[in-house]
Amino acid sequence: MDNRIYIFDTTLRDGEQVPGCRLDTRDKLLIAEELELLGVDVIEAGFPISSPGDFESVSEIAKLVKNVTVCGLTRAVQKDIEVAAEALKHAKFPRIHTGIGTSDQHVFTKIKTTREDILERSKQAVKWAKKYVEDVEFYAEDAGRTDNVFLAQVVEAVIAAGATVVNIPDTTGYCLPEEYGAKIKYLKENVKGIEKAILSTHCHNDLGLATANSIAGVQNGARQIECTINGIGERAGNTSLEEVVMIMRKHNWMKCDTKIDAKRLNAMSRLVSEKMRMPVQPNKAIVGSNAFAHSSGIHQDGVIKNRDNYEIIDPAEVGVNESSIILTARSGRAALNYRLENIGVKLSKEELEIAYNAFLTVADTHNVVDETLLRELVSSLAINA
Ligand code: KIV
Ligand code: ZN
Repeated sequence: MDNRIYIFDTTLRDGEQVPGCRLDTRDKLLIAEELELLGVDVIEAGFPISSPGDFESVSEIAKLVKNVTVCGLTRAVQKDIEVAAEALKHAKFPRIHTGIGTSDQHVFTKIKTTREDILERSKQAVKWAKKYVEDVEFYAEDAGRTDNVFLAQVVEAVIAAGATVVNIPDTTGYCLPEEYGAKIKYLKENVKGIEKAILSTHCHNDLGLATANSIAGVQNGARQIECTINGIGERAGNTSLEEVVMIMRKHNWMKCDTKIDAKRLNAMSRLVSEKMRMPVQPNKAIVGSNAFAHSSGIHQDGVIKNRDNYEIIDPAEVGVNESSIILTARSGRAALNYRLENIGVKLSKEELEIAYNAFLTVADTHNVVDETLLRELVSSLAINA
């Protein structure tokens, strides 16, 4: 299907580059197993040459998962590629992900070379990788800041050398969605042989635009999204898997979808957060603890009447039991009555008025009136429970 979007999960590679968040092989295997059940298409398991531990993790994941492509990262360096091939040798579907910087910033200031040399090294890296695996992905690092004409030259050359996927990373999270989308469109329209490869998005979140840029990439012809659970990654992180998946589910008009089992998203998020010892911000889209919590009176009243008034996602779709009505000093009578009914307390109109006034006094001195406080309130009023 032309509109099938492949999910390339890099939680275990780019995601694990979060300062201070190392995972051991056991944790990585556990996460890889869950990613396979979640339905990702590719697991980027690590950067095999970077350390013996990373080599071991890639190798063990390659042995473990059977229905997913397992990918190892390399620089455009022969030794890196040989080591990655060794780590991936037991994978049923191995992929080598190799590449080099293509922006003038990287070419002249980081690598200190010429564009011609970058072009040669890019082709060479793909040819080396092709000796070991059929599936070779090439990344043009800092493509977000790379001149489109030179980028097209590189992309054309690596596809001719056998790259099956070409990754267009916005490494520094610099692009605006229109700009990133236009870059993908330019490549689709100007690269000879582009139909032989899949274009991939890989967006960083330095300006909070990683998700928007990935979606703009898809709207302009990219068919793979590189992302991480909870959007983890170095600096401001990577594109968040759960966000791009649910955007495509909710906007059917895009006619693009993944094979992610969204009901597993919430548990997956908690697993990664726990193993990485990295809390998820409460207001994080889809998986934050407040993503389905309503606390202001106007919203609560609307949700109690009909969930669709303030919810665009049924929480069950992403594995959350139900949305919650949080009692705070901003809550109204409808919310109080709803929560009381949930604990089996049915009040008359007059009783509710008394309870509500007492509730406001409690709520003013507590951030949240939880079930224990609510029960205490009911007993203190001596109304029928
Ligand atoms: O952000 C980036 O450019 C990367 C590449 C190594 C794929 O992570
Ligand atoms: Zn990255």
